[in-house]
Amino acid sequence: MSKPLKIVQYKYYLKESSKDGIISFVGSNPSSKASFFYRAFIDQSLRNIMKRRFEECFSYSNTQGSNHLRQAISGLFIDNIRVSADSILITNGSQQAISLIAQTLIRPNDNVLVDHTSYLGIEKPLKDSRARIQSFPKPLHELSYSGIEKVIKYVQPKILYVIPDFANPTGQSLTGELRTFLAEFAERYRFFLVEDRSYSCLAYPYNPLLPSLLSLSSDTLSIGSISKCIAPGLRIGWIASAQINNINKLVLQKETVDLGSSMLVQEISASILEELRKSPKLMDTIKAFYQRRMELLLSSLEKYMPEDFSWTIPHGGFFVWVNGPKSLDSRSFFQRALLNGVGFTPGCLFYYKKPQNNTFRLSISDVPDTDIEEGVKRLAKAASEELSQIHHSS
Ligand SMILES: Cc1ncc(COP(=O)(O)O)c(C=O)c1O
Repeated sequence: MSKPLKIVQYKYYLKESSKDGIISFVGSNPSSKASFFYRAFIDQSLRNIMKRRFEECFSYSNTQGSNHLRQAISGLFIDNIRVSADSILITNGSQQAISLIAQTLIRPNDNVLVDHTSYLGIEKPLKDSRARIQSFPKPLHELSYSGIEKVIKYVQPKILYVIPDFANPTGQSLTGELRTFLAEFAERYRFFLVEDRSYSCLAYPYNPLLPSLLSLSSDTLSIGSISKCIAPGLRIGWIASAQINNINKLVLQKETVDLGSSMLVQEISASILEELRKSPKLMDTIKAFYQRRMELLLSSLEKYMPEDFSWTIPHGGFFVWVNGPKSLDSRSFFQRALLNGVGFTPGCLFYYKKPQNNTFRLSISDVPDTDIEEGVKRLAKAASEELSQIHHSS
């Protein structure tokens, strides 16, 4: 029997951890509190739209997306000179962007290369297009450039998919040098670089973002989203490419799927982005909101976790990646953690080749500040119990 899809397994961990009394570090749903920061913008934009743009909002959208929204996105999120509003396709979240890219670019048996760990939501769209998912044998930043090149030459990918900033699941970012090399490799070995910038908008204040791959290579398709920094319920994402023929192909595919995203939602989103442009400090408030949670998590891990555990130190986004001792299996550890009142996502869900079962992901996105220290205390207690049971039975 084939293994259940990663997304199905993930839903099990999400559901078990959402039971009463459990502090859940599982979900990557942005905090509902973050939407309150935009409340005034949303109220105002709804009033404006009903007054000024009523007719457009209840009509079909141009499939590529509202010009107003594409302009707003190119002004706020596309940090380079390669693309204008014409080179952007609006999608229903970055998840649809991934599916459209898979449907448009992949032929059966094409290889898609991903980092050592990667987002679990790429599995089904890529498999539906009959791609073969291959991964690097170690995290990209632990490989030499000749090591990376060797894998690329061997795999001959059609697409290299990376999450350059505050990646899901590790929270880590690609170095500037690594970005330059990947851009060079894409040009030399003729593959598409697909960068997923879903978390790039969440660089903690005073932590400047490194250049996007889009700014480094014209072979890049850059995926973005407002889900993590504004509101996932609006379902607005995009694909940007310097090559307009790529965008045209993707537009055609989107036409077969839904004829275009909701105009009402696009106009609301455009108007929020315009307000944000006028008040850049608001974005810093949201980033600082998550940064505080991240700092609480990191200091609690430092204070309470047993010695044999180590973890990443992210500078943005939601995730921390934890490595336990080799003997730990984070799937059975999860069951013990639940008994102690805390949940996390076992690391095996994020590997596309041989998983390292001693890893797991913690997400701060929807854990109230007041629960973080208590959640880590419970995690540390569960870890000590689990390790002493493992030592007993070995
Ligand atoms: C790396 C990554 N890409 C894409 C998505 C999809 O997000 P959305 O469709 O809400 O933009 C997620 C969601 O968690 C994600 O973590």
